[in-house]
Amino acid sequence: MKVSVTTIPFSELDVDLLLVPVSKDDFTESVAALKAAFGESVSRALCDFDGELSKSVVLYPEKARARRLAMIGLGDKTAADTEIIRQMAAEGAAMAIARQAETVAFVIPNAGLDPETTSQALVEGFVLGSYRYEHYKTQEEEKTREIQRLVLHVSDAEKTCRLGAERGRVIAECVITARDLINLSPDEKTATALARAAEKSAKKFGYGAWVWDKVLIEEEKMGGLLAVNKGSVEPPTFTVLTWEPENPVNQRPIVLVGKGVVFDTGGLSLKPTKDSMDYMKSDMSGAAAVIGTFEAVARLDLPVHLIGLIPATDNRPGLQAYVPGEVVRMHSGATVEVLNTDAEGRMLLADALSYARTYKPELVIDIATLTGAAVISLGKDVAAVMTNEGEGAQTRIEMMEEAGQRSGDRVHRMPMYADFKRALKSDVADLKNVGGREASSITAAKFLEHFVDYPWIHLDIAGPAFLHEAKPYRPRGGTGFGVRLLVDFLRTLASPKKRR
Ligand code: BES
Ligand code: MN
Ligand code: ZN
Repeated sequence: MKVSVTTIPFSELDVDLLLVPVSKDDFTESVAALKAAFGESVSRALCDFDGELSKSVVLYPEKARARRLAMIGLGDKTAADTEIIRQMAAEGAAMAIARQAETVAFVIPNAGLDPETTSQALVEGFVLGSYRYEHYKTQEEEKTREIQRLVLHVSDAEKTCRLGAERGRVIAECVITARDLINLSPDEKTATALARAAEKSAKKFGYGAWVWDKVLIEEEKMGGLLAVNKGSVEPPTFTVLTWEPENPVNQRPIVLVGKGVVFDTGGLSLKPTKDSMDYMKSDMSGAAAVIGTFEAVARLDLPVHLIGLIPATDNRPGLQAYVPGEVVRMHSGATVEVLNTDAEGRMLLADALSYARTYKPELVIDIATLTGAAVISLGKDVAAVMTNEGEGAQTRIEMMEEAGQRSGDRVHRMPMYADFKRALKSDVADLKNVGGREASSITAAKFLEHFVDYPWIHLDIAGPAFLHEAKPYRPRGGTGFGVRLLVDFLRTLASPKKRR
């Protein structure tokens, strides 16, 4: 979708659909201005419209150049944060799609936020709200007509709006990169295919990618990744992404680790099909978020030195599959007693986290669809965030929560008391890979913490990564959760003073 910004009077915009947000606070003035431009039909529409949030009405005024005019409610203007702007914009996108509009103009609302932030949020909501995954649809008439152009209308601050709109478009496209990867059919999505996709993205957007094959993974003694891979006929991959700008704000790299389980059957501890294994093609959503984030960081040219690590394999119950009771020697040298082969994510993440030490990182963030318990405790909108205790723990959690609030990829903290580690005590090895039913999102994080000796943030995105029911700007399927969160987090790091 092409996105542009214009200041020409909105009555002259020649588009299929002109969208005008109207808040309750300046309802009277907004309506008067619209009436002056488009005539009496605006007043007539008021029997069906009062500016309430996300309510809308469509008009076909004779005086307008635009084929259709729609007022969209913004509700209480002072309450309009970035998330409300995104949701309102997604409502506009839904209206455009329903009417097969190819060109859309959107008047940038004058909410409490600055124009740059408003434009970014509006474009994100619009582009993400109009996303449909139709890669496998063969009937032309079943496909949605793509919106070709979005024109933002502003009365002033054209330059900053353009900056915000451009950033919003880039970030939304990177979220879509992640969504497309998640939604791909699992038979096409081998570990090798995922690594190739990362390579392709790196080449296109100018960051580095280095794909390790099974031989290299064996040389590095990544026992966790190799154990999970034993039941598969496809080899594992380990992909290293790099972004090294000239004058980075950080002395030592920040490392992003993404869980790349391209399909999780549970292994010999097999998952049931319905509402469980049937959507486990999404178990590489963490990896997808890392790839999407690298794309955005490169495209926005952020001055942050970044490394990305993606351990990838499918988890299958093949003839050689790892079995419950097996003791695995991990990359770190630690031994793990596997008591459930479905707790596979932590096995390969542990190896990547232990390898991350070689970078002497300033901070490592892992992002993973790690536990079903995270879905039970926080639902489908919010991810769990945890960190190792020690200096800076509080600050980095707050930074992540604030990034979540701004970006709409919201996160909530879970505790990491030392006591939780007891559940992982093994009779035969250094630790078990499962800690029982209680607090299993936390015990999973405690398992990972064992392999970490640097400042670390863990994001469990099992809930919001993949939806069965659509949300305002997240259709069913892969959401690309984490891209906007991480990009916002890294942008804040890159320019702390400039942030709101
Ligand atoms: N990939 C799953 C977690 C998951 C569940 C993601 C639901 C998305 C939606 C993970 O590998 C898993 O199977 N976790 C188990 C761990 C258990 C065996 C200790 C879980 O949480 O049930
Ligand atoms: Mn599993
Ligand atoms: Zn899994």
